[in-house]
Amino acid sequence: MRRPNAWEVSVKAYRKKSFPLDKIRRFLEPGPVVLISSAHGGERNLMTCGWHMMLGFEPALVGCFIWDQNHTFDLVRRSRQAVIHLPALDLLDTVIGIGNVHAPELEGDKCDHFGLTPARAKKVKAPLVAECYANFECKLADAKLVNRYSLFVFEVVYAHVAASPKYPTTVHYRGDGVFMISGRNVSRRSRFRPEML
Ligand SMILES: Cc1cc2nc3c(=O)[nH]c(=O)nc-3n(C[C@H](O)[C@H](O)[C@H](O)COP(=O)(O)O)c2cc1C
Repeated sequence: MRRPNAWEVSVKAYRKKSFPLDKIRRFLEPGPVVLISSAHGGERNLMTCGWHMMLGFEPALVGCFIWDQNHTFDLVRRSRQAVIHLPALDLLDTVIGIGNVHAPELEGDKCDHFGLTPARAKKVKAPLVAECYANFECKLADAKLVNRYSLFVFEVVYAHVAASPKYPTTVHYRGDGVFMISGRNVSRRSRFRPEML
């Protein structure tokens, strides 16, 4: 049974089959890939993160999965701070490079190694990254799920966002080395109740 919708494409029911649970990330994962910078005890670091989600508007809360084998895990747990960065498509290969090496394997830190420009943040010690479209300074708001799920709940305490473009071309990880690039926007503002916008 096919029904037309506002896009004048037909809506259909899909035939489905059982799917391996360890591969469902392919469908649920693709928020924009971000970088997370951290600093503690004179050391600073960067990692790539695809598993994150908004958890509140005000305060602005963001949950990030940081694997306990990552060096970042210790730096964030000790400092209770981080900066979440939004890279655009031009940084894709850098994002992959940062996410494929652990800090102790390198001689210098990852900012230097990957030719990124660190800048001083306003409210936290972790550095901003000048080449990223946006930098969100965060303080750890809740560590209750860290031991069990490696989930850090951050509160964004300061946001630095580029003046243009309004919508950066972001990259979204689908697993298996495949990325989706953000595409065109469709506005449906008029169909929203104001309180839902
Ligand atoms: C596209 C991509 C997405 C990733 N997403 C995550 C993630 O959500 N959580 C995580 O802990 N590691 C993730 N990683 C792996 C870390 O970035 C990687 O282990 C990194 O080397 C950690 O650096 P560190 O040990 O210096 O902290 C991702 C890597 C890539 C390439």
